[in-house]
Amino acid sequence: MLPSKPLPPPVPRPRFTAPVSFYGMNVYYKFYIQFICVFVLIALAGLRVDGQSTNSAECVTNFDPNTDYFPVKADVETATLFSIQYFKYYKLVTNKYTNETFALYQCGTQAPPATAIPAGTKVFQVPAQNVAVLGTSSVAFLDMLGLRSKISLVDSSDFISSPCVQLLEGNGSITALSPVAANAATQLSTVSLAIGASTPDAKPNSVSVSPEQDPGSLNRAEWIKFYSTFFNVEDRAIGIMKGIVANYACFRQLATDGNKDSTAPVLAWVVYDAPSDFNNNTPSWSIADAQYKKQLTEAAGAVYFNTSQLKYTTSSDFLNAINTVDIIIDETFIASDISTVYSNYGLTPDAPYKFVKNKKIFREDGITSPSDGRDWFERAVPMQDAVLEDLINVVNENLPKSGYQRKWFRNVALGEKKTISSSANCTDVNAPTTDVASNCSAIVNTATGDGSNNGGNSNGANSLQPCVTLVIFASFVRALYAFALI
Ligand SMILES: *[C@@H]1O[C@H](CO)[C@@H](O)[C@H](O)[C@H]1NC(C)=O
Ligand SMILES: *[C@@H]1O[C@H](CO)[C@@H](O)[C@H](O)[C@H]1NC(C)=O
Repeated sequence: MLPSKPLPPPVPRPRFTAPVSFYGMNVYYKFYIQFICVFVLIALAGLRVDGQSTNSAECVTNFDPNTDYFPVKADVETATLFSIQYFKYYKLVTNKYTNETFALYQCGTQAPPATAIPAGTKVFQVPAQNVAVLGTSSVAFLDMLGLRSKISLVDSSDFISSPCVQLLEGNGSITALSPVAANAATQLSTVSLAIGASTPDAKPNSVSVSPEQDPGSLNRAEWIKFYSTFFNVEDRAIGIMKGIVANYACFRQLATDGNKDSTAPVLAWVVYDAPSDFNNNTPSWSIADAQYKKQLTEAAGAVYFNTSQLKYTTSSDFLNAINTVDIIIDETFIASDISTVYSNYGLTPDAPYKFVKNKKIFREDGITSPSDGRDWFERAVPMQDAVLEDLINVVNENLPKSGYQRKWFRNVALGEKKTISSSANCTDVNAPTTDVASNCSAIVNTATGDGSNNGGNSNGANSLQPCVTLVIFASFVRALYAFALI
């Protein structure tokens, strides 16, 4: 903040405590510091204004093809399965996994010429206004971007864990897609954008997304930029992603430091596939290998369990393969309690495995909707820093701090219960969903005794730091002067 009061006049020091020469230096020093602080704060204020600029939510009235209508451009830094290219009045967004390209032109300008875009490109006007959301992770991405009010249709509504989307569905502001295909097609024709299908659809307003296919942990989170392009809210996506990346790095360091004196446990992600029509009535037991799981496991301070043979046709062969494992994450869709987990894997409570003896059996169903819609498939897709924080606690129960309450990873061996997310949990229907991760740097600072700095995601307090540093530096210089003068 700029000082609003006039500078106080220099206070003359009584002669008997300070020589005249010292008094003169003091006046100079006061103005010098004030000047530097004001200068630094003006510079910071300037940066802040830049950071706040946004792509327009309004339609252009006097189209000029040479104006850059997208001053905020999102760079894709980690994700590998989408790209964004900016042109003056349109952007080309590509889902490289499904090979769909979307041309998004600013409302009030014009669709790009067909010769300028790849064949088969779907054309949209942005910002999109009236949206169908197909797929639970898309609900979380839009919720975080503050776009909930644009949603008018959802599919698989029972599986949505977002409390405010459930509330809006309860009072008719959001409609569920009909299970009858012809009716659903009619409903979908009423929206300008149907986003979230995992496979391409011929409908001109349909957009496929692939955050779950993008291999790494932060890759998943960065898809928030993909969603943002359809609404011109790249500024929000960039800010959210920056926060997640910084918090993730802090948590990884916290786990490294917190586990440095202990042997890293071996952690396996496993799944049981019950006999059904989908698998010829043949059950199987597998190690659920994926790049993001490996990254999260290692960042959390555990050894990622992996073998060349991932799939087994008997539980005893499977258990034999994982007999060095300390902790398991059971990803089997259905298993609400430990006895079901035991029976799925052919285990008994006295089986000689470390994960059984030490009660280290976790599932991802810690938060669900009243009808068992998993928040793991919703907020846990973008909020990778929060997933890492949860997994750090799975690996070492004393981290990231004592008393930490896990969100998604539920220890079924300890009989932990699911937390229900219902419409009653919606406190402000207009508020964006915020990342559920703790502020890691606040935890680190508290642990190291510096409780005064709440670090990380806050920005107001931190912007004063360069100024404070300057004041301290200048005081030091002044002290040297004083020495020389005395
Ligand atoms: C549903 O509830 C929300 C939040 O209270 C309100 O803004 C909205 O107008 C309601 N919609 C209908 C159709 O009642
Ligand atoms: C929803 O609210 C209930 C009642 O206050 C609470 O017990 C539950 O933990 C909340 N759910 C979530 C996901 O926070």
